Amino acid sequence: MSARGHTGSRRGPAGAALGAALVLACSEPDGAPEAEAGPVAADSTSVTSTDASPDSTGDADDGSTGVAPDTSSTGVPDDPPPPEPWVWDLPPGFPEPYVPADNPMSAAKVELGRHLFYDTRLSADGTYACATCHRQELAFTDGLPRAEGVTGELHPRGSMSLVNIAYASSLAWANPTSIDLEEQAKGPMFGTDPVELGLVDEADLLARIADDPTYDELFAAAFPDDADPRSLDSVTKAIASFERTIIAGRAPFDRWFFEGDESAISAAAKRGWDLFNFPGECTYCHFNFAWSDSTYFADLPERPLAFHNTGLYNLDGAGAYPPGNEGLMRYSGDPADMGRFKSPSLRNITETAPYMHDGSIDTLEGVLEHYARGGRASTPLADIRMRRFELDAVMVADFMAFFASLSDDGVLTDPTLSDPWTQP
Ligand code: HEC
Ligand code: HEC
Repeated sequence: MSARGHTGSRRGPAGAALGAALVLACSEPDGAPEAEAGPVAADSTSVTSTDASPDSTGDADDGSTGVAPDTSSTGVPDDPPPPEPWVWDLPPGFPEPYVPADNPMSAAKVELGRHLFYDTRLSADGTYACATCHRQELAFTDGLPRAEGVTGELHPRGSMSLVNIAYASSLAWANPTSIDLEEQAKGPMFGTDPVELGLVDEADLLARIADDPTYDELFAAAFPDDADPRSLDSVTKAIASFERTIIAGRAPFDRWFFEGDESAISAAAKRGWDLFNFPGECTYCHFNFAWSDSTYFADLPERPLAFHNTGLYNLDGAGAYPPGNEGLMRYSGDPADMGRFKSPSLRNITETAPYMHDGSIDTLEGVLEHYARGGRASTPLADIRMRRFELDAVMVADFMAFFASLSDDGVLTDPTLSDPWTQP
């Protein structure tokens, strides 16, 4: 692999380890308080999966995520074969995602989860699904500044991309207690502040899909050891399994960076990557294979929880953010945590406008101006790396070419991630 990012000295070793090394190197330089479980030491990790599962060239992405094929040659009908072992189809440089021990991956579970994710019956008036706010063609966002629930209630924050969500060390814009996709799914289903899907409870949820025989087959295949598999627990496990397959890492940038294809991205995009390193200093918070320092995966001994104030607001001279969007402070109660949010992934960032937790910046050019000013609001709480830098039109164009190179178009159109009710 050839050298990259000549102006950026903060790059780790080349290749797959680079991503992890950088995420782990992203600690506060000045002793400023970091979220409780701070980044773990770089030398204690390995991104090379030593898991006993087969190599990463499998079929999760190729349309074969249906029920595991019958490989039985005995023909004995009441002795079903064990399900096929799950094989990740991971892009080069990607470590194996963390999967909770009580919810192992299976093709049948992923398929059930996909049906549930796209099922509008799972909402108060039958018009909303997870996919309403997490649209595949928009990298699983919704294009709105702030999400709108089934009753029209406005969420304080914007829908987040679910691309590479399997690798998120915490979920939502600033919630250090939400680390579990299975648990998270209950939030939009039953939440009342704000209402998202507007379901009442488990019985309400199950009643809405009770009469559909498609689900009899899907639940039975997904939970073959369970005599009565229709439950909230199965629903959330299946949705989480589906979400873990939303993986993107085959963008032009990856072909250049991880595979050494010099022609994969333009000279402008390469200059943009240099600017991203310096003077942008963006890599501190936004670089590794998942483009966020809130990244976790199998084999990492600790879950890094990182939240930063990027200087979007200072309403009272002391750094106040708008009520309801105080960031990490809502959980910690610590005034120093005002306005601290998770660094969102920049994967497929050209598809996910508008930007920031409240959608308050319309364009990527606007985001660049915000950073070049060291944060659009001058606030004492801004992260120390929010430093001003000169930004001219050529630099903006280079940054934009770099951003575009991060888009993996496959994830926007992959049929195994699309609506199974309209495109089986
Ligand atoms: C009304 C729109 C809406 C619906 C419906 C919705 N979401 Fe979300 N989703 C959001 C918003 C807004 C956030 C950010 C939440 C926050 O920061 O408080 C989010 C965040 C997430 C996250 C965390 C993403 C990250 O990067 O940390 C996951 C996972 C997620 N949603 C999954 C789901 C699932 C599964 C469903 C269906 C059961 C669903 N969502 C339904 C709007 C929605
Ligand atoms: C100190 C850590 C940090 C640094 C440095 C940083 N970011 Fe961010 N970035 C964040 C956080 C945190 C957010 C979300 C802030 C919010 O919504 O309040 C964010 C949001 C973004 C977004 C919007 C993403 C979305 O989905 O809405 C983009 C684009 C972005 N950053 C690009 C950059 C670029 C380009 C640079 C360098 C010029 C940079 N960032 C430097 C932490 C950082």
